[in-house]
Amino acid sequence: MDLIKSIRDSIRAIPDYPKPGITFRDISPLLQSKDAFKSTIEAFAQRYQELGIDQIAAVEARGFIFGAALAQRLGCGLTLLRKPGKLPGPVVKETYALEYGEDALEIQECAFKEPQRVLLMDDLLATGGTVAAAAKLLSRTQAELLEAAFVITLDDLPGEQKLQDLGISCYTLCRF
Ligand code: PRP
Ligand code: MG
Repeated sequence: MDLIKSIRDSIRAIPDYPKPGITFRDISPLLQSKDAFKSTIEAFAQRYQELGIDQIAAVEARGFIFGAALAQRLGCGLTLLRKPGKLPGPVVKETYALEYGEDALEIQECAFKEPQRVLLMDDLLATGGTVAAAAKLLSRTQAELLEAAFVITLDDLPGEQKLQDLGISCYTLCRF
């Protein structure tokens, strides 16, 4: 079966979650399937294995799952972009807007003290607020951001356009 189709088919649609009118894309079945999870990492590896990536910068929480597995597959390092208060300091912080309120990501100041080729990873691209903040954090370091990679992009939201407008190249395995 086509690799991408098998990955896409393993993502469950949950109607009206977390609120009416929203369809939640649940990656739990993908992760529970050894074949779908392996195919996901292999699909990313096919794209990135020849690009000389030094570090994957992964976004807490769900970005960690794919970032960690791909870092092992590529034989590169993993840098954590975490929610506030989780990393021992000193840290750099970037706040971003949510539909209601705001959230933030932090990176340790000691990350990327020298130039490194970095792939940014998260599970899903929706409005783009999370990864725009993550990219802004990286821009305050010596990371060279090659691309932002996602398992899922929600095409009815402006995230991809927002990131492209910021000059960030995007790659996604599945679109809904
Ligand atoms: C979810 C998802 C992405 C983000 C995408 O994270 O995992 O990180 O939202 O949304 P955006 O493109 O509109 O910013 P969330 O922080 O909700 O949960 P998580 O901690 O489980 O990853
Ligand atoms: Mg997330």
